[in-house]
Amino acid sequence: MKISRRSFLKTAAAIGASLAWVEPARGSRVHWNERRDLYPQGVASGDPDPHSVILWTRRPFAQGTRQLLTVEVAEDEAFRRVIAHAQAPVSSAADWTTRVLIGGLKPARTYWYRFTDTDGNGSRVGRTITAPLPNDPRTVNFAFVSCQDVNEGKLNAYRRMIYEDERAPAAQQLDFVLHLGDFIYEVVEYPDETKTRYDRTIYEVARIPDGHKVGNFHIPLTVDGYRAIYKGYLADPDLQDARARWPFVAMWDNHEFSWQGWQSIQKAAGKERPGQSIKVAANQAWWEYLPSRCKKVSGPSLESFDPPALTNVAIEKWDENGLGDEPNNLAAINSLIGYRSYRYGRHLDLIITDQHSYRGADPFSDPSLAKLGGDEFIDMAPETLMQALDGGRAFNGGNPPAEVSFGDAHVPNPQKDKPPQTILGATQKAWFKDQLRKSTATWKIWGNSEGALDGRSDPQNLPPGLTKETWPKDTYASMSPPDYGMAYTERAEIYDLIRDAKITGFAIVSGDRHSFWAGYATSQLPPGKFEPVGLSFVGASLSSAGTMEALEHSLPKDAPLRPLFLADKATGAPDWTHNMLLRHGVRACLEYAKSFDLERARSLSNPDLAPHLEFVDLGGHGYAKVQLSADEMRTEFVCIPRPITRSERPDGGPIRYRVLHTAALWKSGERPQLKTSVLEGDVGLAI
Ligand SMILES: [Fe+2]
Repeated sequence: MKISRRSFLKTAAAIGASLAWVEPARGSRVHWNERRDLYPQGVASGDPDPHSVILWTRRPFAQGTRQLLTVEVAEDEAFRRVIAHAQAPVSSAADWTTRVLIGGLKPARTYWYRFTDTDGNGSRVGRTITAPLPNDPRTVNFAFVSCQDVNEGKLNAYRRMIYEDERAPAAQQLDFVLHLGDFIYEVVEYPDETKTRYDRTIYEVARIPDGHKVGNFHIPLTVDGYRAIYKGYLADPDLQDARARWPFVAMWDNHEFSWQGWQSIQKAAGKERPGQSIKVAANQAWWEYLPSRCKKVSGPSLESFDPPALTNVAIEKWDENGLGDEPNNLAAINSLIGYRSYRYGRHLDLIITDQHSYRGADPFSDPSLAKLGGDEFIDMAPETLMQALDGGRAFNGGNPPAEVSFGDAHVPNPQKDKPPQTILGATQKAWFKDQLRKSTATWKIWGNSEGALDGRSDPQNLPPGLTKETWPKDTYASMSPPDYGMAYTERAEIYDLIRDAKITGFAIVSGDRHSFWAGYATSQLPPGKFEPVGLSFVGASLSSAGTMEALEHSLPKDAPLRPLFLADKATGAPDWTHNMLLRHGVRACLEYAKSFDLERARSLSNPDLAPHLEFVDLGGHGYAKVQLSADEMRTEFVCIPRPITRSERPDGGPIRYRVLHTAALWKSGERPQLKTSVLEGDVGLAI
């Protein structure tokens, strides 16, 4: 199917790009002389479809407010067969960035592109790949990544990804990179103020103009602050090389706007402030630095974001789904629509959602809940309590408990009259369900920036006397961060739809947790009915510090429950029993920390704790690769050592392990089944 120029023009206008149309191949007409220093953030491409892709660069000029570059697209790396030659405007209004949508390309093809200014100063050459046609049966390969903190680490994972991809057979090379957020961290540390954190050296990233400060973190409040951070991040050579090698399909997580923010509310270290103009500034900078097909609602310009002028006012009215009914809030969160879907050949429908712009208030943070105690149980909260808070007024068929309790302590249920928690919000959820129902691809992959797998433990099985407080009888402990792993009601709504509509080939890929997880999507866990409707994966951080690094530095040596998290040996770093806690439970951990006998420890595994989990490594870093075919999904975790310093090796340094999770496509009504195999290295207690 050929797209017409007319529909192409409409698409380009909607996403705010400039246009170029393919023409017959000829030699290059520009005198390109590579000057990477004049294009300090490199080049990028985004959101390929079978006939078009968006190309990006940044070329700042000291004089004037607008200049024209030339963009060329070629069928060969030497630019002997140039098939598109067009103007690419850069202007100070978009911080000297440009987006050009190239139309009329052939499906499933590799192209090369470059930008040149009127003096012949050229960008580096980028490579991009178009999507196959919807009926194309070829295997699809992509990587999913997240959390690339370069303030506290290095991106050796990208170097490894590039090194392996260059050497892979053509049919296994990556088609695109799915970036699931935390492309930047808006909380910036300055090395002259903070030298180290955990095992980390603090590296210089940016100085934030007109920002504010929370603890050690400098935080942007304007578009110039966010732009400064993107420029600092994109100075990283490994990130630049990755963007020049593959098209990226990207979605923001929390840190592209605000650490604990939601809707347009800015929140850091527990303090909220109205942030309508800050949310728009975050959206503007994201749009300027990540080429995508996200819908820009704010204006018709092809060159700049044209932010709406908004007032930062407290939201006082909320609709029945928890959406802040305030005009500035609605304009801010709708200034850039991130959720979207892509068909990629016969086997992939990629459905991407926004987990932050439309979510309701956090149901788990009412201050009254602190009175319940349970502090000895590190990061654990009774699962039944969390489910009641998540369910709000709809819990238990509309009969929520008047009080919530922990042992003998009781407080009034703060969520009794509130709507059930939504992360997606009503409008996006309706869209998402529609995408699921309509999908005809073999695999329906949900790119959800937040991990969706439950992390839980079984402190009800602890021997008496270990703690002063007593864990409530017959109750598992929820240990998920407050993410999609605790969106019990909304998750069940979606999983039940998948079951009832008999949808097969459903899998979630996610990030945010700074750890590797593999398992099953299920509405309930024992004592409820374990009924998996799909697969669920979390990819580790590229560089950001994770749970185990934090615990190694902060968990007191004499904490009574320390063996559930860390098993101290006579010499060397402790073993990460936290992984075992989530897979096998407290009895296995206590045995392992005593005897270091893995077999004996696993023989004490609690089979009802985590039938949904095949693999958990809370200390992993790296990336995940997915391969999709007519009958199989293969997900490979490539784990690298803690990326504290930049590896100078061409392969990005050693790997810790490589693990492959395979699942055959299941028929409607059948259960998905994962098979996990360690291909190389040592996975520790992750299985
Ligand atoms: Fe992160």
